[in-house]
Amino acid sequence: RKIVFVAAECAPLAKVGGVGDAVEGLALALARRGHQVRVILPFYAGIDRSKIVTSLLGSCCVHMGAGQEHWIAVWETFLGEERVPVWLVDYQSYFGRPGVYDEPTGEYADNAYRFALLAKAALEICKSLAFIPDLFHVHDWPAALVPVFLKAWPHLLSPFGKTATVLTLHNVGHQGKYGSSVMPYLGLEWTRFQPDFIEDYGQVNLLKAGVHDADFLTTVSPAYADEILEPVGGCGLAPFFARRKNDLRGILNGVEETRWDPEVDPLLPANFSARNLSGKSRCKEALQRRMGLPARSDLPLFAMVSRLHLQKGIHLVRDALPSLLREESIQCVFLGSGEAEFEEFLRGLARTFPDQVAASVGFSEELSHWIFAGSDFFLMPSLYEPCGLSQLYAMRYGSIPVARATGGIRNTVIDLEDKERPGTGLLFLEPTGQGLTAACRRAIDLWEKAPETLTALRVEGMKQLFSWTRTAREYEEVYTEALRRRGVSAG
Ligand code: ADP
Ligand code: GLC
Repeated sequence: RKIVFVAAECAPLAKVGGVGDAVEGLALALARRGHQVRVILPFYAGIDRSKIVTSLLGSCCVHMGAGQEHWIAVWETFLGEERVPVWLVDYQSYFGRPGVYDEPTGEYADNAYRFALLAKAALEICKSLAFIPDLFHVHDWPAALVPVFLKAWPHLLSPFGKTATVLTLHNVGHQGKYGSSVMPYLGLEWTRFQPDFIEDYGQVNLLKAGVHDADFLTTVSPAYADEILEPVGGCGLAPFFARRKNDLRGILNGVEETRWDPEVDPLLPANFSARNLSGKSRCKEALQRRMGLPARSDLPLFAMVSRLHLQKGIHLVRDALPSLLREESIQCVFLGSGEAEFEEFLRGLARTFPDQVAASVGFSEELSHWIFAGSDFFLMPSLYEPCGLSQLYAMRYGSIPVARATGGIRNTVIDLEDKERPGTGLLFLEPTGQGLTAACRRAIDLWEKAPETLTALRVEGMKQLFSWTRTAREYEEVYTEALRRRGVSAG
C-alpha cells in the first residue's frame, strides 16, 4: 500500500521523546514489508543540514483560511537502509526555529498555525507530487487536522476520495488547545465550532476534531486504549474516545533493532549480550567515570532518562530519593530536560549528594545509550505511560525497570512475583514517593541478598522481543479496517 505518515517528530531527524522513535520504527518496518511509505515532517532549523543529504523536490502554494497563502518548499531526505523518503516542509517563518514545539521559555505561541499548515501542506504536497496514498497515518495532535481537512472539503480534495485516515494517539495529555481566534485560519465553518467536534470549553481542540474525523484510531499499547476511556486517562476526552470505541485499537510499539542492540551499538564504550554480560560491567565503570561518580562495581546504579514533565513522575523521585540516598549505599545517574523546576531539582540533588548522584540536564542520544547500558536499575515512576519505549530500551540493555504499573508498562514489564511468566522488572502501583521508595528498597534488597535472582531478571528482560514487524502487521489490519470504514474494499 501507499502510506503517508504526517508527524511533528521522526528520529533521528527530530526527536523530543518516544514519538520520534515510534514514527521512524514503524515507517521502516512497513517499508520492509513492501509498503510505499513517505513521512511528512517540518524542516525545523534544528535539523542539521550538514548531516543529511537533501534534495529540493519543488514548491507549492498552501491555501489556509482567511485568504492566507503560503509558498512552501519541499525537500527530500531518506530514512535507514530502506531509504524511506522523508518530505521536509520548508517554511522559514514557522519552522525556522530550533525547537519542535517550544523553546526554554515555553511553547511557541503560534503552534496552532504551524501545525495547521503542516496538515494542509501534507495534502498539497501529495497532490503536487502525484502521490495519492491509500492511507494517511497521522500522529498525535500536530497532525490531527489531516483527517479534518479531508472531510471538510471533499470536492477540493477529490484525489483523496479513496484515501482513509488513521490517527495514532501517542499521548492524549497533549491535545493542541488554542484560542478560538485560530478558527478563521483553519478555514473551517464556524458552524463546526461546537462541542461535538472542535470546540472545547470555548477553545479549539485539534486532537478532538481529529478523533471525530479519522476513520480509525489507535493508541500505542492495549492497556492505554482502555485507560483513555476513563475520566483520568482520557484527559477530558474520554466520552469522545468512548464514542469511537469500535474504531479504536491499542497496538504496542516496538524496538528498532538497528539502533538499539547492545551487541553492536557503536555508541557504547563496550558491547555485550545476554550470553556475555562482561561488557556491561565495563559500560557501568565508563559511565561512572564519565559522570564523575566513584567507579564502584559493588553499588547498585539507578538511572533515569526522561523528559522532565509531570507525566514522568519526577515529583515521586523528588519525594523519595533524598532519604533513600541518605539511608542506602546507592548511586543515581539522571539525564533529562524539560520543566525548569525539575531541572533545578536534579542539579540540586547532584550538589547535595556529589558522591552518589550525577545529573546531566539536556538532551543527548549518545549519553542515553551509555546510561541504558551502564545502569543496573532504570526508574520509570510515570503517572501515566501510553507505551513507554525507555523501559524497553532499558530491558534490552540489561537495566532492570523499577517502574509504575500503568499503560504500556503493564503490557511490557513482568513483575518478579508474577505467577505465570518469568519476571523482567519490579513494578509498583501507588503513585507516591512511598510507592517508589518501596520499589527501590525491593531492588536494593535483591542486590544485597539475591544477586542470582537479579541476573535472571536482567537476562529475561534482554531476551524480550518487541519487534516492529509484529507491530507493523497489526497496523496492516488496522489499515484494512480504516479503508473498509471509508467504503473502500480491501485489496
Ligand atoms: P516519552 O515519549 O513520553 O518521552 P518514551 O519512553 O516513549 O517516553 O520515549 C522517550 C525517548 O526519549 C527514549 O528514547 C528516551 O531515551 C529519550 N529521551 C528522553 N529524554 C532524553 C534526554 N534528555 N536525552 C536523550 N534521550 C532522551
Ligand atoms: C508518547 C508517550 C510514550 C510513547 C511514545 C511513543 O510520547 O508518552 O509513552 O512510548 O509516545 O509512542
